[in-house]
Amino acid sequence: MRKLLRIGIAGCGAIGSSLAKSVAADFTGKAELTGLFDVETEKAYSLANKLGLKIAVLNLEELINKADLVIEASKVASSYDIARSALSFSKDIMIMSVGGLIEHYNELKALAEEKRARVYIPSGAICGIDGLKAAKCSGIKSVTLTTRKPPKAFLGVAYVLKKKIKLDDIKEDTLIFEGNASQATRAFPQNINVAATLSLAGIGPENTIVRIVASPSVTRNVHEIEVESDAGRIVCRSENEIHPENPKTSYLAVLSAIGTLRQILEPVKIGT
Ligand SMILES: NC(=O)c1ccc[n+]([C@@H]2O[C@H](COP(=O)([O-])OP(=O)(O)OC[C@H]3O[C@@H](n4cnc5c(N)ncnc54)[C@H](O)[C@@H]3O)[C@@H](O)[C@H]2O)c1
Repeated sequence: MRKLLRIGIAGCGAIGSSLAKSVAADFTGKAELTGLFDVETEKAYSLANKLGLKIAVLNLEELINKADLVIEASKVASSYDIARSALSFSKDIMIMSVGGLIEHYNELKALAEEKRARVYIPSGAICGIDGLKAAKCSGIKSVTLTTRKPPKAFLGVAYVLKKKIKLDDIKEDTLIFEGNASQATRAFPQNINVAATLSLAGIGPENTIVRIVASPSVTRNVHEIEVESDAGRIVCRSENEIHPENPKTSYLAVLSAIGTLRQILEPVKIGT
């Protein structure tokens, strides 16, 4: 009989909770939840209670020790440290706060190779990573991400305040930012994961173009990626519903992590 994949979750907010529920309900016989960790310990206890299972609430080191795969769903400022700790103990890691990897990607990759462990980065809130990865095997000329959100989604964003953009006056699609992914992640931290995943999968943060549009006509967060390559042109658009427990998180991002987990556990892997 195959050994159960032991999973530890670091970060018990919207994504961590959904993943924990899914591991407990959908992966019986294939995976087991061996621990929960959150800097706000009460969140980990509350999740364990909701699950109705005797799941251990642990510190990070214990979590890593008891897991084969650690799933990080905490925050951008912590993801690198969590990933490095897991890899140092030769444990696999799935990372949701991808923005925290931009500066450390090569270092983590080298550590994963040295420790013979794997780093999983789900597509998250965007589609088209499969085509981008295939196109990368030939030559990519450009990668552009265009994100459209309702103007009120940008309320309080430091960049918008600094540029004195009057969100209330926006009556039609308005381009409020255009730059590379590095600049975009500094100006719009809430867009950081999507831009980071796209640039790490493609041609890097300095060369990936990001456009941010305040659009009064959209009710969902819309991400469009456009890739020009030797293999042709790829255009992908996702119109995302928000997660019921966190309006800053797309529901698709959670499902993408569950889909990645499924792919890890299935003998057949479909898609690039
Ligand atoms: N890859 C994507 O496309 C994508 C999409 C949406 C969100 N995200 C990212 O995933 C992460 C989780 O999102 P969420 O919606 O669940 O957020 P959330 O705010 O609902 O939950 C985050 C949880 O992590 C905990 N936490 C914070 N720092 C921690 C640390 N150092 N160690 C352990 N726990 C810590 C918090 O207490 C909180 O319970 C965020 O970083 C978010 O930016 C990624």
